[in-house]
Amino acid sequence: AEPLRIALAGLGTVGAGVIRLLETNAALIARRAGRPLQIVAISARDRSKNRGVDLSPYAWEDDMVILGERDDVDVVVELVGGSDGPALACARTTIEAGKALVTANKAMIAHHGLELAAKAESAKVALKFEAAVAGGIPVIKGLREGAAANAIERVYGILNGTCNFILSQMEDTGRDFADVLAEAQARGYAEADPTFDVEGIDAAHKLSILAAIAFGARIDFAGVDTAGISRLRAADIEQADSLGYVIRLIGMAEPDHSGAQPCLFQRVQPHLVPFNHPLAHVDGATNAVVAEGNFSGRLLFQGAGAGDGPTASAVVADLIDIARGQLTGGEIGAPFSVPVAELEAMGRAAT
Ligand code: NAP
Ligand code: HSE
Repeated sequence: AEPLRIALAGLGTVGAGVIRLLETNAALIARRAGRPLQIVAISARDRSKNRGVDLSPYAWEDDMVILGERDDVDVVVELVGGSDGPALACARTTIEAGKALVTANKAMIAHHGLELAAKAESAKVALKFEAAVAGGIPVIKGLREGAAANAIERVYGILNGTCNFILSQMEDTGRDFADVLAEAQARGYAEADPTFDVEGIDAAHKLSILAAIAFGARIDFAGVDTAGISRLRAADIEQADSLGYVIRLIGMAEPDHSGAQPCLFQRVQPHLVPFNHPLAHVDGATNAVVAEGNFSGRLLFQGAGAGDGPTASAVVADLIDIARGQLTGGEIGAPFSVPVAELEAMGRAAT
């Protein structure tokens, strides 16, 4: 069978993880996808950097923006980061060239997801971003497909691995905030600018994407009321512990029908979680997402929320979907489940 030909933009923690995963599991992936997944071209900032993987089989492009215009590429995987800049330029060019786009970039999807989805719908190409929310947990697939029959009443959970790693390490070992953050960076969990993690912005990006999918609403990142963990001190954690709680950074979204116009309540903030609640036992860089469906009841999605392997796993799952024939979005339709024209017509309201 013809291979699915892939270009990789970004060869950092996640990009190198994708190369390792595609090499290690090549045979089982080809079997499950019905054809091989083959990287043909790559791009990053520094060509000479040692990334611990052999890049010699792949064509190098200095300018990632043109990856999608190459005749030998079917799909571009954007793993650069940043809501704008080269990542967004690469995403736009790829879709405009009629190629599928896979991305782990929640900042870009939270800010420009609707524009990119409109372009993808009009070009009839896939736009997929499973790795953008909760790392290795297939929560977008879970909500879009597994919970598709439900009206979702509420979605909430732990959406940032770096913050959860910091909080649980401070709790268990009494280590200093800055010291644990440095370890999270060394492990590849943190964003290039870790302010996005510790100020709750990364969790807000993810919450806005989850809410759009769960409630069939427009992405409304600006509408997320956001606070992070940077002002928490060891004394806060000790005090919480003495009262029977742990502190977790929780994102929560639910439709609010109390006013004249229905709207979406979205908030990210540190919460006191009682010891007997399941989220109190989510430690390290783990994420957990709870979705309450009107027929399914409470669904809990839990797993590694950051790091090279888990994130690469979600990226490659999207590539396998595309290799199986979802180049045009396939049977699951528009990137946010609801066509963009409908989302644009509905303003900020949740359905
Ligand atoms: P990273 O380690 O910082 O890697 C970023 C890559 O992009 C690097 O290869 C870098 O090139 C390249 N790059 C950055 N700016 C560039 C520019 N201006 N021009 C050309 N290349 C540029 O980041 P990462 O952790 O892999 O994250 C990548 C994306 O995945 C981000 O959107 C992030 O939010 C998302 N994500 C990350 C995780 C995680 O656990 N790390 C999990 C889920 C989602 P050089 O290497 O040459 O400098
Ligand atoms: N910086 C992010 C986190 C990476 O710590 O959760 C995964 O999206």
